[in-house]
Amino acid sequence: MTITVTPRHPALGAEVRGIDMHRTIDAETVQAVRDAWTRHLVLVFPDQRISDQEHVAFTRHFGEPEVFHQTSLNLRSDRVREIFLVSNVDEQGRLMQPSEPSQKQLSSSRQWHTDSSYRPTPSIGSLLHGIEISRTGGITQFINMYKVYDDLPEGLRRQVEGRRARHDFSMLHRLTGAPPPTAEEQAAMPPVWHPMVRRHPVSGKKSLYISSIYNDAVEGLDGPAARRLIEELTAFSAQPEYMYRHVWEPHDVVMWDNRCTVHAVTPHDSAERRVMHRTTIVGSEPVVAA
Ligand code: OGA
Ligand code: MN
Repeated sequence: MTITVTPRHPALGAEVRGIDMHRTIDAETVQAVRDAWTRHLVLVFPDQRISDQEHVAFTRHFGEPEVFHQTSLNLRSDRVREIFLVSNVDEQGRLMQPSEPSQKQLSSSRQWHTDSSYRPTPSIGSLLHGIEISRTGGITQFINMYKVYDDLPEGLRRQVEGRRARHDFSMLHRLTGAPPPTAEEQAAMPPVWHPMVRRHPVSGKKSLYISSIYNDAVEGLDGPAARRLIEELTAFSAQPEYMYRHVWEPHDVVMWDNRCTVHAVTPHDSAERRVMHRTTIVGSEPVVAA
C-alpha cells in the first residue's frame, strides 16, 4: 500500500489516504503512518467504516490498547473492553441527558487535556472513530505543544522549566460534579507527578506537558497559584496558529499523539446523538524531562 499525506493546517494535522482498516496493513505502510504521525501529530483517516474489532486491530500496530480502569460510569464498552465510549448514547442506543454521571465526566473533555496523563506511564496516542457525528458542534480541537513550548514568553518559560505538575484522575469529579471514583478506582490511579516540559521519545523535541483537567498541583506553588499558572499556560496555548480544528465526517478515524498535543471538544446540542469510540495506546515509558 502507498499512502498520501496532505496537511490540513500549517501547525499540525494531516489527512491520510490509501489506508483500508478492514485489511491487514503491511509493515512498510505502518512505518509510513508512523513517520507521518511524527511529522503531523494528528492524522485523519477518512471513510473507515470499521467495527470495534477492526479499530482495536489497527490500534495494535502502534502499541497495546489501554483498558480503562474505571467501570462505574459505563464509559468502557461492555462488548469490546479496549473501547472507550465518548458518546451521549449508551450501548442500548438510549440518548443520555447531560445531567447523567457519565455525561458530566465526559464534559471535562471540553477543556484542554491529553489522555491518560494521570497514569504513571501516560498514553502514547488515541484513535477516535466518529460513528454518529455532530453537526451542531462537537469539533475536536488540537494544539501543537512543541510550537507552544518554542514560543513561550520568557516569564512563563521560567516557571515551567525543570518543574513538575501533579495529574490526578479524581480532579474530574471536582471539576464536573461527576461522582468521585470508587476507593478501588482511586487506589488503581493515585495522583502522579510529571515534568511540565518533556522530551518526545521519537522526535527528540521538547514540548509543554500540562492538563487543565488533571493538574491540581505544581511544585513550589500553593493551590490557587498552581491553578493560575495552568490557566495562563492554557490560554497561551489555545491560539489559532497552534491549532487544528477537526470538523467530523461520519467514519473519520482521528489518531493523535498524546505526548506533544492537547485537545478539547466544542459543545454540541445535547438532543443530538454523538457516538464516538476511542482506543488509547498504552505508554511505552515514563515522561522524560527535557
Ligand atoms: C477524547 C476526547 C474528544 C471528542 O476522546 O479523548 O477528549 O471529540 N474527546 O469527543
Ligand atoms: Mn481526550
